[in-house]
Amino acid sequence: MGRVTSGTLPLADPPPRGHPAPPDLPEGVVPARVRSFVRRGRHSSLTRDRLERLGPLRALPAGPFEARSAFGRCAPVVLEIGCGHGHAAIAYAAHHPDHDVLAMDVHLPGLARMLAGAEAAGVSNLRVEQGDAVVFLEDRVTPQTFAAVHLFFPDPWPKTKHVKRRFVSEPNLDLLATVLRPGGHLLVATDQDFYAEHVLAEVAAHPRFTAYRTQRPAWRPTDGFEAKGRAAGRAISELRLDLLD
Ligand SMILES: C[S@@+](CC[C@H](N)C(=O)[O-])C[C@H]1O[C@@H](n2cnc3c(N)ncnc32)[C@H](O)[C@@H]1O
Repeated sequence: MGRVTSGTLPLADPPPRGHPAPPDLPEGVVPARVRSFVRRGRHSSLTRDRLERLGPLRALPAGPFEARSAFGRCAPVVLEIGCGHGHAAIAYAAHHPDHDVLAMDVHLPGLARMLAGAEAAGVSNLRVEQGDAVVFLEDRVTPQTFAAVHLFFPDPWPKTKHVKRRFVSEPNLDLLATVLRPGGHLLVATDQDFYAEHVLAEVAAHPRFTAYRTQRPAWRPTDGFEAKGRAAGRAISELRLDLLD
């Protein structure tokens, strides 16, 4: 690793900001802050060990996100939202040494696994942030920061009463339009046809993006949700959302 930051990753999920999200709200009732994820419980000793040993090397410095202080250089920064255990983020970082990658998720065990994977892969251009990406973007990111945003296999939230939890939504597209650089884009992959249609419909109604189906990125590993979807006979939708001028 080229640079050690002063940040840390928490060893426990932080308390939620704002309204606690009940798992199932009555139809038509929307909490003050709708989240695209659910919170899970305690962490194993392996997770804690990985976070303590490897977290400080890749955690962001506290405060506003600043690419130079986070990565020690000024290169295009790609944000992956909902990176899980980081297989795609690590692969992107390895295939794009001239780019920097910030991988975010809420759940610490996956991030801990990503830290171990990143160490094994020897990638120096990957940083990790734990938490709700929406809160991070709203509170700590200045406009026109990211060259691209990746959203691979987001939680589909299939029930009608949970549609508001889907990450691709009008308010989140507004936010992404702000933090993307001019000419920036968003890549979305999903193994759920209804989610792909949802994305296309949201973007069709949004003035700042245009969306189209695209090729699968060759650098992305084929495991995980993609493999599970294919094994179950589902097609994978690859969508690209370009930021309009
Ligand atoms: C279905 S998983 C996919 C994980 C990974 N992209 C993959 O392909 O294996 C979706 C992930 O998005 C994360 N997530 C959902 N909403 C999020 C948010 N607002 N901020 C950060 N992560 C979020 C969840 O915690 C979960 O790990």
